[in-house]
Amino acid sequence: MSKKELYFKCENFQKTGSFKARGALNAIKTSLEKGEVPARIVTHSSGNHGQAVAWASRQLGLPCTVVVPQGTPTVKCEAIKEYGAELVFCTPSPTGRKEAADRIASETNGLIIHPYDDYNVIAGQGTIGLELLDEVPDLDIILVPISGGGMTSGIAIAAHHINPKCQVIAVEPVGKNLQESLQAQERKWENPPQFLNTIAEGIKTQQVGHLTFPILCNLVKQVVTVTDQEMADGCKILAERMKLVVEAASGAAVAAALSKQVEYMPGLKIGVILCGGNLDMDSLPWQNI
Ligand SMILES: Cc1ncc(COP(=O)(O)O)c(C=O)c1O
Repeated sequence: MSKKELYFKCENFQKTGSFKARGALNAIKTSLEKGEVPARIVTHSSGNHGQAVAWASRQLGLPCTVVVPQGTPTVKCEAIKEYGAELVFCTPSPTGRKEAADRIASETNGLIIHPYDDYNVIAGQGTIGLELLDEVPDLDIILVPISGGGMTSGIAIAAHHINPKCQVIAVEPVGKNLQESLQAQERKWENPPQFLNTIAEGIKTQQVGHLTFPILCNLVKQVVTVTDQEMADGCKILAERMKLVVEAASGAAVAAALSKQVEYMPGLKIGVILCGGNLDMDSLPWQNI
């Protein structure tokens, strides 16, 4: 029997444990190359971008502050501090995150590195697509877990230029309703922006960004929606079969690969982005449902 062929991009092995190191380093380095030397790097994050920015700032010798929502997994908070950044908690909402980071940046003359609405962050995340298609040029599909859309936009741009037949599919938690906004080519979400109620904190932002939205409208034709249970099952299968421990957002891509929402054709080649592996070992996704 001909089966789907799955190709895993293991960003859980990336520096800082997620793909976010790519965009963070590219954005900070690009601003330094322009001759801008900020007094401080500031960001807000669900945890992985914060770790990446803390790590990249230390590599480049810059002080850093990271704002995370209360309730962010301990493993992500501890790593941010270990990479040498100051950690600040905020009220758990997109607006709370942004306001806290804006205030700190204006008080410290800091430079904000946005988690997704920054072309240099998008370009950095796009290198995932370059590497994956370099190794497997004839992929039919790439499944990308989506939050603000930086990673999906970057990979979609790379795929569009390298292999336009390769379809980038965004994988979202229940309640995001991205397809509705993409189809209408108009932001259909209610304001103020909300966090979704999901075990995958990496992909809990409901609205995509203002820079990423037009890119997604142009290049992403399909969205797959997965439940928390499916993400947890995806993580469990990876642990059992591949001996890989990943966070729930990565489980979303696995769930999509196994889902009937991805139309099956014999020999279909699917890229599965395992976007991150940062999780509290005492709170594994399948124990968290
Ligand atoms: C593990 C993981 N996967 C996916 C995403 C989504 O990335 P983006 O906001 O670029 O869509 C994030 C964002 O924090 C993440 O941490």
